[in-house]
Amino acid sequence: MLKITNLHVFVEKTPILSGVSLVVKPGEVHAIMGPNGSGKSTLAYTLAGHPKYSVTKGNVKLDKHNLLEMTPDERARAGLFLAFQYPVEIGGVSVQNFLRAAYEAKFGPLKSIVEFREILRIEGEKVGVKKELLERNVNEGFSGGEKKRLEILQMMVLKPSVAVLDETDSGLDVDAIKTVARGVRAVIAAHNTGVIVITHYQRILKYLEPEFVHVMVKGNIVKSGGQKFGEELEKNGYTSYV
Ligand SMILES: Nc1ncnc2c1ncn2[C@@H]1O[C@H](COP(=O)(O)OP(=O)(O)OP(=O)(O)O)[C@@H](O)[C@H]1O
Ligand SMILES: [Mg+2]
Repeated sequence: MLKITNLHVFVEKTPILSGVSLVVKPGEVHAIMGPNGSGKSTLAYTLAGHPKYSVTKGNVKLDKHNLLEMTPDERARAGLFLAFQYPVEIGGVSVQNFLRAAYEAKFGPLKSIVEFREILRIEGEKVGVKKELLERNVNEGFSGGEKKRLEILQMMVLKPSVAVLDETDSGLDVDAIKTVARGVRAVIAAHNTGVIVITHYQRILKYLEPEFVHVMVKGNIVKSGGQKFGEELEKNGYTSYV
């Protein structure tokens, strides 16, 4: 379970988050919507432990852990996963070596590399990451959609207890949105993962069917509801909440 309580975050001297509270129980999907610049990615990066963001107040618990006292790699090992809004390129590191290193950091040494590669191939196929992509350097020259699919493959490999997906749907074609949503649902079904999905669009929510939809405005969650609420938001916009 992820429990965020009264989280205040500054970037340099600017306050961005001002008192965010949110509880994500195992197996639940929470969508966070809201205008550009309202602090959604800031929340994602803060949870992952990006050094640019300083927490001035509040706390975050991931199961029994005090998340904010942990380094980014400790957070990942404790079960937190972040899919980036803008996935980064890693030159000189192939996707399969990257995933293998990530897997071993979390679960210990692999028994068989050949077997792991086979798992990658099978899991990759499920979310449309082709075998050739596994051999290329991480995100180097990948199309927008390929990068987003790879984020989900990472999630499938790392089996997180809590996953934050920051605009994973942006840049995906209509079929890929379905594929990716199915991939996320499969991880939830297998590992009871709690998911926060940050998005601007209803189309991914149609397939993911979140139990909760929240609106973030100016660094805080100002209203929450169910899936119907998400549909209203897309239709009516955020003006009444700003
Ligand atoms: N280094 C910085 N200095 C000052 N302000 C910053 C810095 N980094 C981020 N911000 C500001 O923090 C605010 C929140 O940004 P964030 O990326 O969290 O928004 P978002 O809700 O994810 O938006 P979007 O929907 O466009 O992805 C923005 O106004 C952004 O300009
Ligand atoms: Mg963002």
